[in-house]
Amino acid sequence: MRNIILIGPMGAGKTTIGRILANRLGWQFHDSDREIEKRTGASIPLIFDIEGEAGFRDREHDMLADLTAGQGMVLATGGGAVLREDNRKLLRENGLVVYLFTSVERQFERTQHDTQRPLLQNGDRRATLQRLMDERDPLYRETAHVVLETGGQTPRAMADRILAAS
Ligand code: S3P
Repeated sequence: MRNIILIGPMGAGKTTIGRILANRLGWQFHDSDREIEKRTGASIPLIFDIEGEAGFRDREHDMLADLTAGQGMVLATGGGAVLREDNRKLLRENGLVVYLFTSVERQFERTQHDTQRPLLQNGDRRATLQRLMDERDPLYRETAHVVLETGGQTPRAMADRILAAS
């Protein structure tokens, strides 16, 4: 496989696990949200404010297309990367796609003080995470080559499991 691509919801640990994994493999690590911020010079919340979610999704698609053209990288994607059919295809065709399944309760614990994820800033956070999980879990599963449950395991242990599965 050319790349390892991590998908899953906010608070799954994609970035933390991805960095460890890239280190182990001696590969580059990219996080699509951070790359979008570098390219635009704007934070994700500012992009949502100015361009709306639709504008962000277009930027996300362009970034995923650019990044997956490369090889030998671990790529952490945003939680909504699987929403578009063209993204799902792009990801599956350009790497080993690993879904880091994480319970809503654990996502809630990990995101409860977050101020940088626009979709979590209004309304009941637990209910939002549950709704997103209900909508997206089938899409994550459709996109993934491998599904791993992250519950109770350290990022290092998760990186080991991904290595074993790759
Ligand atoms: C989003 C997840 C975020 C980021 C944006 C939208 C989502 O990424 O792309 O706030 O739709 O779930 P993380 O999953 O890295 O938090």
